[in-house]
Amino acid sequence: MQSVDPVLLPFWNGRVEQAFRPEARAVMLSGDCHETLASLPRGFAKLIITSPPYNLGKAYEKATALEEYLQALDPIVAQLVKVLAKDGSLCWQVGNYVENSEVFPLDIFYYPFFKRYGLKLRNRIIWHFEHGLHASKRFSGRYEVLLWFTKGDKFTFNLDAVRVPSKYPGKRHYKGPKVGKLSGNPLGKNPSDYWQIVVRDWEIALWEIPNVKNNHPEKTLHPCQFPIELVERCVLALTNEDDWVLDPFSGVGSALLAAVLHNRRAMGCEKDDEYLRIATQRFADLRAGRLPYRPLTRPVYRPTGREKISQMPIEWQAKA
Ligand SMILES: C[S@@+](CC[C@H](N)C(=O)[O-])C[C@H]1O[C@@H](n2cnc3c(N)ncnc32)[C@H](O)[C@@H]1O
Repeated sequence: MQSVDPVLLPFWNGRVEQAFRPEARAVMLSGDCHETLASLPRGFAKLIITSPPYNLGKAYEKATALEEYLQALDPIVAQLVKVLAKDGSLCWQVGNYVENSEVFPLDIFYYPFFKRYGLKLRNRIIWHFEHGLHASKRFSGRYEVLLWFTKGDKFTFNLDAVRVPSKYPGKRHYKGPKVGKLSGNPLGKNPSDYWQIVVRDWEIALWEIPNVKNNHPEKTLHPCQFPIELVERCVLALTNEDDWVLDPFSGVGSALLAAVLHNRRAMGCEKDDEYLRIATQRFADLRAGRLPYRPLTRPVYRPTGREKISQMPIEWQAKA
């Protein structure tokens, strides 16, 4: 576990405000975002990043439920498009909705939704994680999706800020005019270029960021919080310092913390007082240098095979 030294946050005095001010560094608005978003200036947000509510459970058992759920979000999406900057990005992170054992991948339903507002898809990112519930009647789900849209054709993409170490940095061109010269980039490779599988026309990038589960250092009581590092990659790539990052469903504030960590301005909306309280506490912990945090650059843990837990138990050895 690691926390962030407050010395690394020179531009933030620790204040989290409750109303928008252009000079503020961190703001959390309490209440239904359909109302709170209406008070925000048009075009102020360089990045909107969120995981919308999946509250599709028992109330949505009718055949039309999914459609109703999407329709209920429509006025909020209209407001989000309004507050998104002309050169801004919107990252919408969703998983599957399952009803009567039938799977509905929410990103497929959301895509036409955003297209109607003129947004342009730049990447459909697969957020892959290795742990989770084990299904017995279908393959266990091990990924969620992040749809990255831009409002226009001009947008920020800071690739160098998010490059990852290349597997073969010493690789050289073996023919042509550059023969003998290094073929890679000293800063590393594009994280989205790592295509693990190509399924139909989709290009699937694997983002190996451990899902926030009970053994993750950042876990709070929120049932589906973002890992901070998932947001960090988007913040670093799609915004510049001092830009505004907005999470309209900010929960316990993970996206806001990621923004403040990188000297961006953070704006969150949340209707649940308990989640707001936890988010406030996490901001205080960040300021005090005690926020548990899994850094962006830390590799995903791979067992060596020597750990007891990664060895075949005696009871199963005869069967294997
Ligand atoms: C999927 S969670 C997001 C969790 C968040 N990414 C985090 O890291 O904590 C959705 C959040 O949206 C909040 N919410 C749902 N509808 C809302 C609304 N209309 N206005 C504001 N917040 C809402 C819920 O209380 C919940 O905390």
